[in-house]
Amino acid sequence: MPEGIFRNEAALSPEYLPEQLPGRESEVSAIASALRPACEGRRPRNLFVFGGPGTGKTSSARFVLTELAEAAGKAVPVYVNCWREGTAVAVLSRISQALGLPLPRRGLGGEELMMRVMEEARADKRVLVVFMDEVDSLSPGEDKVLYDLSRAGELFGAVVGVVCIANNRGFLAALDARVRSSFAGTEVEFRQYSPLQLKEILRTRAGKAFFAGACPEEVIGLCAAHGAKMGGDARVAIETLWFAGRVAEKNGRRKITVADAREAIESGTRKGAETAAFTALEQKIEALSDGERLVVDILRKKGALTSGELYADYRRRRQESERTIRNYVDKLEAKRLVLVEEVDSSEGRTRKITLAR
Ligand SMILES: Nc1ncnc2c1ncn2[C@@H]1O[C@H](COP(=O)(O)OP(=O)(O)OP(=O)(O)O)[C@@H](O)[C@H]1O
Ligand SMILES: [Mg+2]
Repeated sequence: MPEGIFRNEAALSPEYLPEQLPGRESEVSAIASALRPACEGRRPRNLFVFGGPGTGKTSSARFVLTELAEAAGKAVPVYVNCWREGTAVAVLSRISQALGLPLPRRGLGGEELMMRVMEEARADKRVLVVFMDEVDSLSPGEDKVLYDLSRAGELFGAVVGVVCIANNRGFLAALDARVRSSFAGTEVEFRQYSPLQLKEILRTRAGKAFFAGACPEEVIGLCAAHGAKMGGDARVAIETLWFAGRVAEKNGRRKITVADAREAIESGTRKGAETAAFTALEQKIEALSDGERLVVDILRKKGALTSGELYADYRRRRQESERTIRNYVDKLEAKRLVLVEEVDSSEGRTRKITLAR
């Protein structure tokens, strides 16, 4: 008899890339067939993929990306997470890397990098397929890179396909009309998962993660129902199941009980309004620069602060100019992690800074 509950706990971790995506067969195949021409050197269709958190967009994109890479044709698939790589230069550096272009030590500007990347793609008749995940997190003023990539044929004579991935359909509507038109009619919507689909997802994952017999069907049902209630979110459902396993383990069991699953659901609900939002926020904070993270830490401890108070507090911990700190605040505001309001105070007008929720 094996010890414990988990055979392979990593199969329930956020980084795990499942071999199958139950419930997303038609979306994966829509994306794959739009992009497949790239393998033969032909222009793929641009795509706009949207849907709520935890509906499988990133996983499906990574799935197709692997397929394109394995086809070993003319396609050069590139994955960019625009939250982490939110500037044109960062996006283009990622593309250069995928093309195997060495980056010069001296930093190049966006325009020059774009020229080099396009020249390289054109010379080898390779087809770039750029997945812009979390494209709504591109830093303000950086969306010209979308324009350039989506019109690369006319602008640079290179063959490029762009897949934009966002939570809301509204993102596309807000884009420049010329960019928007290059995505016209190529939307793929990821709907919320139904409780049945979530059960299927959980069963597949549970089979890898737990020892046989450790995870009964009622537990799967409860975690799936919770995920369905929280927006049809597979991330929430999986995380709840993982936590239920942890609770059972803590209680010294070899089989998860309904009570363990209930405890996991309650603690997930308590942890923040929503487990997924919490995890997403933590991931975003992890990706910040040290200076930005210090600002977040201070605001977490102190709540709302005026800019003067924030600068003073910050400088007690680390010597930096007000301008630099203000710059961090501006970046955090652009990433929608803090709110900045102009308010009247005894010292005249000042900025009040709070963490966004
Ligand atoms: N059909 C599925 N089968 C198995 N696992 C899935 C499926 N859909 C999603 N998942 C899992 O759920 C989690 C969230 O999925 P994913 O990251 O793809 O969602 P997303 O739509 O990109 O969410 P977000 O908008 O928050 O970025 C991941 O751990 C992923 O492995
Ligand atoms: Mg995602």
